[in-house]
Amino acid sequence: MSASASIDVRDWIRDIPDFPKPGVLFKDITPLLSNPDAFRTSIDQLEEQFRDRGVDVIAAAEARGFIFGAPLAVRMNAGFVPIRKPGKLPYATIAQEYALEYGNDRLEIHSDALAPGRRVLLIDDVLATGGTMRACCDLVNSTGAELIACAFIIELSFLGGRAKLEPSEVFSLITY
Ligand code: PRP
Repeated sequence: MSASASIDVRDWIRDIPDFPKPGVLFKDITPLLSNPDAFRTSIDQLEEQFRDRGVDVIAAAEARGFIFGAPLAVRMNAGFVPIRKPGKLPYATIAQEYALEYGNDRLEIHSDALAPGRRVLLIDDVLATGGTMRACCDLVNSTGAELIACAFIIELSFLGGRAKLEPSEVFSLITY
């Protein structure tokens, strides 16, 4: 039996009460990242889900989306496109605003990063309210590239983010 077969990635997520504020139970992915078998298993499982879908680009938003998106891109022999907070990308950008709990933020992608015909898989660590991934979907769609799906390590289903991503396909390794 391979190491991956014996690992449940859920066992490597740690609950942190009252972070980042009282009443919030934070799902901490750092135990998973620090264990090579658990981390590799999470990438294996994402790759298994999408290996036959003709994905040629993985796109992910900073910062935690990069942690999973980059190794998955290497594993899938796909390119990696970073989606970044304002002012970080050096070339011409396309921007998308999205709502935070208080106020708005913005994500940017290079204007030449994607194009019609590219088959894109979006990755992030957590689906919470869905605002971040909704902005990522809108950025991908605005380039004319084909969005295959949105994939997550963790989905906090009680926050209803999945509905915000319709009609995109949504896949999560762990659902709470
Ligand atoms: C976190 C997480 C997701 C997003 C999920 O990122 O990594 O990207 O929030 O929340 P949502 O579904 O309600 O949008 P955060 O904005 O904290 O940035 P970070 O990755 O740089 O920590």
